[in-house]
Amino acid sequence: MMYKNYLWWQKNVIYQIYPRSFNDSDGDGIGDLQGIIKKLDYLNDLGIVGVWISPIYPSPMADFGYDVSDYTGIHEMFGDMKDFDELLKEIHKRDMKLILDLVPNHSSDKHPWFIESKSSKNNPKRDWYIWKDPAPDGGPPNNWLSVFGGSGWEYDEATGQYYYHAFLKEQPDLNWRNPEVQNAMLNVMKFWLEKGVDGFRVDVMWHMIKDAKLRDDPPNPDHNEKLNSYSRHIPAYSTDQDEVHDIVRKMRKVVDSYKERLLIGEIYLPISKLVRYYGEDNKGAHLPFNFQLLQLPWEASKIEAAINEYEGALPPEGWPNWVLGNHDKSRIATRVGKEQAKVAAMLLLTLRGTPTVYYGDELGMEDVDIPEDKIQDPQALNEPGVGQSRDPERTPMQWDDSENAGFTTGEPWLPLMKNFREVNVKKQWDEEGSMLHFHRRLLHLRNKEPALHVGDHLPVYTENNLLSYMRSYNDKLFLIILNLKNSEENFTPGFFWKGEVKLSTHPEFEGKEMEGALRIKGDLGLLIEVIVNEYT
Ligand code: GLC
Ligand code: MG
Repeated sequence: MMYKNYLWWQKNVIYQIYPRSFNDSDGDGIGDLQGIIKKLDYLNDLGIVGVWISPIYPSPMADFGYDVSDYTGIHEMFGDMKDFDELLKEIHKRDMKLILDLVPNHSSDKHPWFIESKSSKNNPKRDWYIWKDPAPDGGPPNNWLSVFGGSGWEYDEATGQYYYHAFLKEQPDLNWRNPEVQNAMLNVMKFWLEKGVDGFRVDVMWHMIKDAKLRDDPPNPDHNEKLNSYSRHIPAYSTDQDEVHDIVRKMRKVVDSYKERLLIGEIYLPISKLVRYYGEDNKGAHLPFNFQLLQLPWEASKIEAAINEYEGALPPEGWPNWVLGNHDKSRIATRVGKEQAKVAAMLLLTLRGTPTVYYGDELGMEDVDIPEDKIQDPQALNEPGVGQSRDPERTPMQWDDSENAGFTTGEPWLPLMKNFREVNVKKQWDEEGSMLHFHRRLLHLRNKEPALHVGDHLPVYTENNLLSYMRSYNDKLFLIILNLKNSEENFTPGFFWKGEVKLSTHPEFEGKEMEGALRIKGDLGLLIEVIVNEYT
């Protein structure tokens, strides 16, 4: 494929902003659109092109914006439509792209559609949601559970039926089998695409269609009491039904009727099921999110096997992608430790496929301990003890060493990390060896070298705790060696090579010439340009 035929989202990095926590411009302690606008130069200078913003629509905030009460508006807490238009214009002015979060599986229970639907059994919008009669014993229609705890069914006294909600009861699931619902949501997509939005990240895409017969989910033999109650069942009938692919195809068609727009799907499924979301003839999601790096143990052999399995399972035209962190999972620096976080960044940004960087991970931000009385996340509040809180990875971005890290002049909605005076953008930007400085140079190198952003992936056989591969494009070849442990390891590839270290987690290695077998110290990552003509 000719280089110029690659699309922006294949060549570039996506950065996820959790808008409540990025930058607050009006002192209410919650981030907003004007706050984001002020930081676009930062993202641009960092080397970011794609910006995905978690939901900014009107919402009662029962699930912090993932409960939408108006799909074509802006929450006043974040600003108004004028601010949004300005944001989009400022993004495009910098040749950057804006990806919105679309939440089509469920709305807020305060959405006018649901209020109508709930009002009576024969309301024209009754069938827009999933309403069923009680089971003969008066209980819920089947055994489906809510991801956030308890039954997935909520009883409505007034009309004597239950409605289904895969998440909170304040997030009733829309009935995607109803063509009117499909049209309404496809029109929402058109509304934003007409404005010039560059794509969508579609929330819980694999949830959108449920079994038509509402059969019970089977029990999960691996469940234990320490796990949340949702894992009592395997969601075989409540998620990932064949017909979802027709819906995804329709969404893709809308997106494709505009120029170079992107469709991403949030999908937590094993690889074999995940790759089906690329769709027949590659007419599904452009990027079904690949969450393996969020889930695998941090072991070279396991990650290497997963990379190879994924590369092998991708459909011919399917473009890979990798995610290392998001607003639902513990931060990478906490999961693997501060030293390994740099190695992880090198992995994310040198693997073949579009990477998504979670805000703050470029600084090495860690999960923040939230005192019990400050917990905000309904996932934690609903199931105390077992429902993992997502607040720790959603804390305010650390911009500088002033009060509240420059995030807000008010009281931040979640507490800041205590170390923000050392870990912040201002301090790390030019500080050699810092996480941000490393990220910035890694992003710039990735953006400059086609081998690193669109090149082929060539696995390199390694032992022990090392993970190694090459990336190649035309006459350029890069060798990546990553030590996933803190002990020294031997790198003994079965071939000769010679090259120069272009970038390392440890700057003292940069510029050094290396060849053949090596000793690789703990926590070391090397990005080496291989001298091609002599040996290959
Ligand atoms: C997705 C979002 C998560 C939200 C859930 C329900 O998984 O990433 O934050 O709670 O959907 O919308
Ligand atoms: Mg604000």
